[in-house]
Formats: sequence, structure tokens, C-alpha cells
Amino acid sequence: MRRRAFLSWASIGWAMSRVPAVFTAFLAACQGEKTTASGLQKVGTIADLDQKGFLKLDSPSPIAVVRNPADPKSLLAVNPTCTHQGCLVEWKAERKSYVCPCHGAVYGADGSVQKEPATKSLAKYEASLEGQDVVVKL
Ligand code: FES
Repeated sequence: MRRRAFLSWASIGWAMSRVPAVFTAFLAACQGEKTTASGLQKVGTIADLDQKGFLKLDSPSPIAVVRNPADPKSLLAVNPTCTHQGCLVEWKAERKSYVCPCHGAVYGADGSVQKEPATKSLAKYEASLEGQDVVVKL
């Protein structure tokens, strides 16, 4: 009986020692869906981009990706947080620009200011394709 109790407690102890490893593996698997092996942030697929005209991701950092209007083979990625007072800008495909819903600032697809009150460009990211995935270097 003592041996059986010891083995039971030893089994529980062994199982509990594995909880952090299992939890870590679970977190890595969850993050693996959003990052590539090279550590780039996945934002979506090229098919989604072509269907919607833009891609948007809210976390870990806000990211917006569009095709470069001047060279549709290349991608442009920005942080869509308005540099005026922090509202999230919206992509307006018909204008090929980002418009801030709060005070009307306008930015080009590359994040450059086209209309005040913002005076500073949106933060830019490097965007590229990895297979069918649109990825961004944060
Ligand atoms: S917060 Fe965007 S224009 Fe003011």
C-alpha cells in the first residue's frame, strides 16, 4: 500500500512538472499561427488582400497592408494609428488613401500626410509575401 501511494504521488508530481512545458507548447502553437518561422508577422493571405483591397490586424500592433497604387506588385504596410491624436485611420480604396474618422487627416497608401491636421506620417513597416501569406516585419 505504501508503495502504491508513493507511485500515485510520484505520477501526479511528474504530470504537474509537465504542465509548464505543455502550456508553453500551447502558447507557441497559438503564436505560430500568426508568425512565420523567420519571426515575421502574418497579416493575411494575398487572396484576402485582393478580395478586400486591404488587410488589417489589430494585435500585437495595429497593421494595415495595401497594394502599392504606383506599383501593384509591391505591398505597403503602415501602423494605422493616426499621428494627430491616435484614432485608427480607415483605408478608402476609391481615394487610394487612409482617412482619419476623427478630424479628417488624410494619408497616402505609404503613410505620408496628404491633409492635416496630422503633420507626421504613419509609421511604416516592411511588407512582403511568403508563399501565399502577406507578412510584415515589425
Ligand atoms: S486623430 Fe486623426 S486627425 Fe485627429
